[in-house]
Order: sequence, then structure tokens, then C-alpha cells
Amino acid sequence: MGEIQPKPHALLLPYPLQGHVIPFIHLATKLASNGFIITFVITESIHHQITRSKNQTNHYKEGGINIFAEARKSGLDIRYATVSDGFPLGFDRSLNHDQFFEGIVHVFSAHVDEIVGKLVQSDPPVNCLVIDTFYVFASPIARKYNLVNISFWTEPALVFTLYYHMDLLRINGHYDNYDKREDIITYIPGVESIKPTDLTSYLQTDPTTVVHRLITKAFVDIRNSDFVISNTIDELEPQIISVLRENQPFYSIGPILPTGLTKSSVPVSMWSESDCGPWLDTKPKGSVLYISFGSYAHTSKHNIVEIAHGLLLSEVNFVWVLRPDIISSEETDYLPTGYDRLIEYSGMIVPWCSQVDVLSHPAVGGFLTHCGWNSILESIWSGVPMICYPLLTDQFTNRKLVVDDWKIGVNLHDKRSVTREEIAENIRCVMSGKSSDRFKQEIKKVKKTLENALARGGSSQKNLNQFTMDVKKKIR
Ligand code: UDX
Repeated sequence: MGEIQPKPHALLLPYPLQGHVIPFIHLATKLASNGFIITFVITESIHHQITRSKNQTNHYKEGGINIFAEARKSGLDIRYATVSDGFPLGFDRSLNHDQFFEGIVHVFSAHVDEIVGKLVQSDPPVNCLVIDTFYVFASPIARKYNLVNISFWTEPALVFTLYYHMDLLRINGHYDNYDKREDIITYIPGVESIKPTDLTSYLQTDPTTVVHRLITKAFVDIRNSDFVISNTIDELEPQIISVLRENQPFYSIGPILPTGLTKSSVPVSMWSESDCGPWLDTKPKGSVLYISFGSYAHTSKHNIVEIAHGLLLSEVNFVWVLRPDIISSEETDYLPTGYDRLIEYSGMIVPWCSQVDVLSHPAVGGFLTHCGWNSILESIWSGVPMICYPLLTDQFTNRKLVVDDWKIGVNLHDKRSVTREEIAENIRCVMSGKSSDRFKQEIKKVKKTLENALARGGSSQKNLNQFTMDVKKKIR
């Protein structure tokens, strides 16, 4: 008589930021569709943020995230739980990030340990931990409860491998070298060459901060994980991925996106969304530039003012997401005087929107982006070329992929400040003329690569199936 194989029951724990929560939610439905039982655990603070914003009826109803309720209706077993990160709800996590990051290691880890302890006794018990790579406490908890330890990397493989080989950067003197070294780096396994300015911001700057220590620790801990899954695609980063696989089982299962990109497939939103649809409907095809810097990067008042003038100079139509906290100072009045009047017919400024809806609208023909990885994948999926304006963390490295490797966008700047003339010139380059046609052709090819990877028999689909089989073997 054959032994009954336990079903994989995975506890998913995203990093508490919009850019991590979104791919984790899509991962949950992907794994559930592949036979996993999922318990999705989110911090009380993020739960509070997504449930208190207005216009959340699309995303959230009592009892959990809508997309999960829909998934349950179609027979998928997705459960939902919250856990305290150790700070009161009113605590400003982005303002006090060092304290918050310290708390993640010392306090949050204990709360996670506690909830995992409960869930290993659920019916059926949790037997896998799918945890964001940036959490430093995965392996002790997985070991303690005898769980399959799965790390989910939400960014490209190039960024992963740079962190993974941080020691090589240190030995060769390229670590913490902002503005000092210009020689090309050629010694990272699988990476033919990369400029020091294309390293993630954390690899370029002061390595003694709390975040640096966390990343270093996370990339020591990752070596203990059983499997790494990543929101990338084999065909987009072939050498890097094949070298990474020599060290550890690494499965590219991207792009992890809402496949339909319709309103109901936007899983959650941290802020109330403005509806840009009716305004976009009045604009000609491909005439609108969309501008957004993601959910937490900041820029300076100077750069905002230059972008505002660059938009006017370029005479383009635009939708601009200006989060209330977009500049790091307390100032709120940062746009040029009378700007509202100047852009009355050509521009729409909103605090937040459903990005996938805007990008997939036919009126949108370009994206001025901070190069967050989700934004890049969403832009490719919508066939919209990019103007790259990286601000923080992986965004500098992601820019290299978009501009230098895949040629589906332009560089707004290599320096950290911009001029209005540069902005206008780059907008024209992406939005009009032969250069625009070239970008559109190239992005169609990259989009096709993404579609093929997800199709039956495609690389991401095969990797997901292999991953599922390997997890099942490990559980037994
Ligand atoms: C962060 C990092 O900055 C990013 O570099 C990393 O790859 C993931 O974590 P974030 O800065 O928020 O994420 O950028 P991004 O990865 O682009 O994610 C933003 C998400 O918010 C996207 O899914 C986007 O669709 C959504 N969004 C953004 C909206 O729905 N509305 C908006 O107005 C802006």
C-alpha cells in the first residue's frame, strides 16, 4: 500500500511593502492553482492600511483580500491571517525605518515564530515556509518546525547575484564605493560586465547602516534555504540564472503578474486610487506619458520641479502619480506656481492610481519610472517603453536591464539630478518618431518572451511544475 503524500501547505509571508505584497499575493494564487494549500500571513499594519483606504471595494471585503475570496470560490484553498510586527499601528514605519528594521529582526521574528508554531498544528498542518528573501530569520524557524524552507525573491536574478556575491565586491574594492571607482566589474559569476553605478544603492553606499546589515545577513541565511523562487524569466537572464543554479535550486517562475491586468485583478492598494480611465479615454492612442515612482522612493523638490517643466517643454499629455510623501522634506507646495492652470488639458496629477489599469490603457505610450521591478514587468506586459529614473535600492540595477540589455527604454540620468531639457528630450525620444517605433518593436519582443514563458510548456510554467514536484518530495 502506497503512503498518502501530504499536500503542500505553505505559509506565505511577504515583506511589508506594496512592491513585495503584490507579487506575494499573485504567487499565492499561482501556487494554490498548482495544488498548494496557502495560508497568507500579512502584518497587522499592512492589513490596516489596505482596509482603511477608500475605494477598496475592488480589493478588499470583510474576511480578507477579494482576489483570495474569488480564488476560494473557484475551489482554491487560500487562508488569511495577520501578525503583529511589534509596533503600534500609529507608528510611522517609513519615517523610523532603522528602528523598524531592527524590530523586524528582534521582535517581529518572535511573532512569526509564534504564528508558525500555531499553524503547524492547523488542519492540515503547514509544512512549507515561503518567505521574502529579505527576512533574516527564515532558516531558524524552518528548522525549528521542520518546514521546507523556500525563499521568494521578488526582484531580478541580476540583483540577487550581486547580493549573493557581495564578498567578491568587497575583496575587489567595489563595495561602498559611490563615485570613487569607475572601472567595469567583470568578476561576478554569470554577469559579463556591470558598471559600479549600476550596483544597487546599498552596494554603493555606507555598509554600516541597519539595512546593509540586514541584507548581508539575509544573503548568508539564503544559503540555508531549500529552494529559491524568483519573479524573473529564464530567457531574460539566462547566464546569471544558470550560474545561480550551480549553487542552489533556483526556479524562475515570472512574470508574477495579474494576467488579465483588469481592475479586479489589482490585488491590493495601500492608498485610495484615483480613476484615470475617463480622462485617458479622451486622449489619442499612445499620446500619454505615465509617471510614477512606486510606493516608497523619494526624490528632491529640485527634481520634481525639473520634471514639471520638462513635461511642459515636451508638450506631452501625462498622468503623474505624486504621492503626498514624494519629497523627503515636510514641504507640500513643491510644484511651480500656477502649474494646475498650465496643465489643465494636458495633464492629470493624482496621489495614487491603479497602475496596471493606466499602463494597459491604449492612450498610454510611455512610462517615466523609478524602475521598481513590478513597474518594469507591468510596463513590458502592457508594451509601454520606459524612461528610467532610478532612485533607490535595486532600481539602478533594474535600469541596466531595461536600457542596456533589453533596449526597451532610455536613461533619464546617470547622475542623481535632472534638468528640464534632458527630461523633454528623453520624453520625445520615447514618445515620438523613429526611436519610439524602435522601442515599441523591441518591447513587443520582450513581452512575447514573457508570454511564452507563462504559456503551456513555457520555461516559467515548467519551472513551477518542477518546483511543485521538488517541494512534494522534500515534504515526505
Ligand atoms: C519596491 C522597490 O522600490 C522596488 O525597486 C522593488 O523591486 C520592489 O519593492 P516599489 O518602489 O513600490 O517597490 O516599486 P514597484 O516594484 O514598481 O512596485 C510598485 C507597485 O505599486 C506596482 O505593482 C504598481 O502597479 C503599484 N502602483 C504604483 C499602483 O498600483 N499605483 C500607483 O499609483 C503606483
